[in-house]
Amino acid sequence: MPSRAPAARQLAGLGVTLAAVVIFSGYTQYQIEGLRRLQTETLDRNRRSTLLLVSIQSNLSQIGLAFRDMERAGDPYPLSAYRPRFERLRISLEDALAREAELAPPSRLAREQQLLHDACARFWNETAALWPLAAEDRVNEVRTLIRTRLEAERAAMTTLAEQLLVQNQDAERAAQARIGAIYTRVERNLYLLLGAVLLAIAATTLYVIRSNRRVFQQLETLSEQRRALAGQVISVQEELFRTLARELHDEFGQVLTAMGVMLQRASKRLPEDSPAREDLREVREIAHQTLEKVRGMSQMLHPPVLDDYGLERSIEWYTGKYAKQTGLTIHYEKIGIGPWIGDQIAIHMYRILQEALNNVVRHAGTREAWVRVRYEPHRMELVVEDHGVGMSVPPSSTGIGLIAMRERAVLLNGCIEFSTPSEGGTRITASVPLNVGVTQ
Ligand SMILES: Nc1ncnc2c1ncn2[C@@H]1O[C@H](COP(=O)(O)OP(=O)(O)OP(=O)(O)O)[C@@H](O)[C@H]1O
Ligand SMILES: [Mg+2]
Repeated sequence: MPSRAPAARQLAGLGVTLAAVVIFSGYTQYQIEGLRRLQTETLDRNRRSTLLLVSIQSNLSQIGLAFRDMERAGDPYPLSAYRPRFERLRISLEDALAREAELAPPSRLAREQQLLHDACARFWNETAALWPLAAEDRVNEVRTLIRTRLEAERAAMTTLAEQLLVQNQDAERAAQARIGAIYTRVERNLYLLLGAVLLAIAATTLYVIRSNRRVFQQLETLSEQRRALAGQVISVQEELFRTLARELHDEFGQVLTAMGVMLQRASKRLPEDSPAREDLREVREIAHQTLEKVRGMSQMLHPPVLDDYGLERSIEWYTGKYAKQTGLTIHYEKIGIGPWIGDQIAIHMYRILQEALNNVVRHAGTREAWVRVRYEPHRMELVVEDHGVGMSVPPSSTGIGLIAMRERAVLLNGCIEFSTPSEGGTRITASVPLNVGVTQ
């Protein structure tokens, strides 16, 4: 049963994974943007506001110190000498207040902001009354003004600044909590995404593995079927060749031989000067030539030398005969001692040799070939080599010679290799075991 190509589901798996990654990237980007906003717009702003409130508090405590110094009797400076110090503190305080108002967190109410400003304005108004008294060095009145009104205003401002500081701290804590929540959410979603992506990858991979296994199983079955079929075709073909060779040799050979004998006998019965004698001689000549042709065809189909003398002698015989027939120079070399090899191994190796030499003559464009046979105790190797034009990769024709050679080697549980010798051309190396049963 043909299996559906797994590409569609693999693409779907890939699509899901990519979509998950893209969605999560967008989501993370959005969350990071939120974090950045919280960081810059809330936390940084809040911290700068807190610093300014601390500076306001510091100004207020310096004012408190100045009041304490003014109240202290026996100071070497006159009271009016404190005025420039107050002016400096005023500038610093008002500047800090103005800048802090710009950075106030959104949670602060306008009313609260206003309270601090009003308190500040009141304080400096009250303070203005101090300097005419100081100019006249009216120490007791100055002391009374400070204790009854100015200190109270200063304390009120300090309390307000303190409250704003507490508010800032609360706002910072809330922002931190929101940042923490965002981190937790992003982290949780990251794990979710990781899980989903891993799941998609695992599902796709499992699917691919299953499909591949199925495809390989089918391939294996097909390959086995093909091999069995090729084996059958080759063995049927060989059997047919063997039968045809036997029929040609035994039946036609005998008939033609008998015809020749009978013609000779008939010719002898005719008078010496009979013109029919010449005709009979010609017919006998034709019969003889036909007999030779039939023998040649019979040998080509299935050489009897193979059955009678085994592979080793057949190879020697065939290379000699083929060289004579085609004019190809064949350098034959035998290494090792060849055992008796008949039957299947012999016929298949013989056919491989035939096809390889035919290919040299037909395609290699050279008149020289090398045939090397190496015999080992349990293995034999046949090499047919030429230094001609060489095979194109892949081979350019739709012939079946190379395929049949490979099939025959496989049928013998062996292997065949096509390579290029260093001199160029083609080298075919067929190596088969001698002691293993033949698959057929
Ligand atoms: N010794 C060689 N030198 C160069 N080319 C070769 C050689 N042997 C085979 N080839 C190339 O490989 C191709 C396939 O060879 P194969 O024997 O399979 O087919 P064929 O000889 O063309 O036909 P068939 O053998 O079926 O009659 C040939 O057409 C040829 O191009
Ligand atoms: Mg061929």
